[in-house]
Amino acid sequence: MSFHIVEQAPARLNRSELAVPGSQPQLFEKAAKSDVDVVFLDLEDAVAPDDKEQARKNIIEALNDIDWGRKLMSIRINGLDTHYMYRDVVDVVEQAGERLDLIMIPKVGTASDVYAIDMMVSQIEVAKGYKKRIGFEHIIETALGMQNVTEIAAASKRNESLHFGVADYAASTRARTTIIGGVNPDYAVLTDPDEAGNREVHWGDMWHYALARMVVAARANGLRPIDGPFGDFSDPDGYRAAAKRAAVLGCEGKWAIHPSQVDLANEVMSPSAEEVDRAKRILVAMAEAEKAGKGAVSLDGRLIDYASIRQAEVLVKKAEQIAAN
Ligand code: GLV
Ligand code: MG
Repeated sequence: MSFHIVEQAPARLNRSELAVPGSQPQLFEKAAKSDVDVVFLDLEDAVAPDDKEQARKNIIEALNDIDWGRKLMSIRINGLDTHYMYRDVVDVVEQAGERLDLIMIPKVGTASDVYAIDMMVSQIEVAKGYKKRIGFEHIIETALGMQNVTEIAAASKRNESLHFGVADYAASTRARTTIIGGVNPDYAVLTDPDEAGNREVHWGDMWHYALARMVVAARANGLRPIDGPFGDFSDPDGYRAAAKRAAVLGCEGKWAIHPSQVDLANEVMSPSAEEVDRAKRILVAMAEAEKAGKGAVSLDGRLIDYASIRQAEVLVKKAEQIAAN
């Protein structure tokens, strides 16, 4: 390990994160009763300019009056380039800060953006005498944000997670997409011709680099990497495939832009019983190996060593966290 110790953000379950427009209060109760880990009440892109003020009021009322149970509650404020942002922060944190766990900052571009919101939230917390510190979730969804993702990830003690906002990222980078978070058949490789001259088209994941880049920045700073939206809510298989790709790269959770996606996210982002069982067997096998003075042994015909312990511990800890929820 490096001499530099990475401080970890609070360990919170973030398998699923449901987006709920602040302008549609009729959706709030259903979200509160769902099995989602995190709810973000949106003031940004799901809310039309004329509805922003009312959405803010709805959110303040909902945070104070609805029983959200043990869910983590977040608000997505408007971008720092808008005149809505300061009132989003001031009004909601002042009037409902006790029940607010997180603030989601969209289109964050530089570490200074984080600093600015940190300063505002810090002042309000002190003025109101809040005991709990509100955390930050950052959406990496612009070319600028991706370029500065390392500095953004390290910009505040409040930082808890980085989210890949694939829709705005596509707009910002001018990527050619068809649906939000989907893949494009033009991002493919053509195999060499076989003996009969046939060639196969292998679709690729055009989001791989961006997501992997964000995962590294998040983990190097002790934050949770979370995959963003998948727009086609009538395609659970497509959603599951996208969530699995993200999970394989190290993401801990994925957004749900429709309640039907919550169970899918929870399912994919929870370790399976078999994975947990194997992880526990690895820990037992390594404990025995250590007693016998060995650093590496074989389990089920495969090599395991001290790195396997660390991987197994992560899985077992996650399973315990889910069970305790
Ligand atoms: C989310 O905000 C996105 O742009 O994908
Ligand atoms: Mg966006």
